[in-house]
Amino acid sequence: MIQSIKQNIFVLTLGLAATAAGGIGLFAAEKASGAKDAAVERTRQEVKMLDDLYKTALVLVNEHYVNNPSDFPAATATKAIFAAMKKNGWHEVRLLGLTDVIGDPDDEPRDAFEQAAAKKLIAGQAPDEEVVEKGGKRYLRVATGIPVVAEKCIMCHENFKGNKGNVGALSYTVPVIE
Ligand code: HEC
Repeated sequence: MIQSIKQNIFVLTLGLAATAAGGIGLFAAEKASGAKDAAVERTRQEVKMLDDLYKTALVLVNEHYVNNPSDFPAATATKAIFAAMKKNGWHEVRLLGLTDVIGDPDDEPRDAFEQAAAKKLIAGQAPDEEVVEKGGKRYLRVATGIPVVAEKCIMCHENFKGNKGNVGALSYTVPVIE
């Protein structure tokens, strides 16, 4: 079970958005982007590690602690961890629903990045990653898919039945490790 979610865990394109630096010569621009790529690559590894951690926890909670529809869902537990990580200033992760039935409206894909990523994950393709700048800091945005990894999921999500693709996603916004 954990293995099957792991296989789906990290789908992201390695294509890097090249940032055009106006006014710098080509050589200088290349050097700068080379250094920046190393920082983005470090961050990409961190996201990969976090994705493994969060999805392993989600699957384990669902497997061992959730037995009835009235039990505290693994999704809600994981979202509580995401809220704590955001509050403590580490990074932001959002749980997204990719089907027509979304339990919490907050889990709907929101901005252009999440909507494009949702489309690609539903189509079974790897979504693009994005480097964004906010308040003078760079952030890496990545979305990874969540397939129906256990029969038990259907107990609360009837509409997941027979869906072999991604029914959800984790949407990461992580500060680039400069
Ligand atoms: C005990 C019932 C229960 C089980 C079992 C369960 N979920 Fe959920 N799930 C919920 C509830 C309730 C929410 C919405 C609550 C929230 O987002 O805090 C939710 C939210 C989600 C979301 C976000 C979209 C949405 O509807 O808000 C995804 C994706 C998801 N679950 C996937 C899964 C997967 C995959 C499994 C099996 C590994 C699973 N769930 C098992 C109850 C359950």
